[in-house]
Amino acid sequence: MQPTTAIIYSSGIGGNTGDVSRHVADSLKADIFDLKKQTIINMSGYRRIIFGTGLQMGKPPGALTRFLEANREGLAGKKVSLFITCSCDEAKGAKQCEEVSRLLGIDDVVFFSSKSEKNEQGFDVKVDGFIDRRRE
Ligand SMILES: Cc1cc2nc3c(=O)[nH]c(=O)nc-3n(C[C@H](O)[C@H](O)[C@H](O)COP(=O)(O)O)c2cc1C
Repeated sequence: MQPTTAIIYSSGIGGNTGDVSRHVADSLKADIFDLKKQTIINMSGYRRIIFGTGLQMGKPPGALTRFLEANREGLAGKKVSLFITCSCDEAKGAKQCEEVSRLLGIDDVVFFSSKSEKNEQGFDVKVDGFIDRRRE
């Protein structure tokens, strides 16, 4: 059966976002796309699109911004969310989510911080709830 969810991520040299993206994709049996390798993605068959990104100086990478600018129509009518991987505390994380939400035009934005409590796999414990809320 064709997966109903796609993870589309942009990860830097640290690879943190790639690690979280693979975990989310495995858990949701979703397809996964790395914007470093592929910038043309046919999203038509998915009901839900989850974007993942790191931040540098509070900003997402250009690859993600450009993809969203070029694909607004392809995202219409889908459930769209974004997770940010970061190294921030709760207050800064919330502020960054607000700013990135406004910048990218995505309402549902959460962050997973390297400073947060970890789950068994070594990810921010919030990742588990994020996954559970996005099961079809
Ligand atoms: C140059 C640089 C700038 C960063 N700026 C921020 C920042 O503004 N806010 C933040 O929360 N984390 C910041 N970080 C932390 C990264 O966003 C975090 O480690 C993220 O998980 C990186 O994802 P990646 O390994 O997939 O690129 C920065 C990291 C680097 C190397």
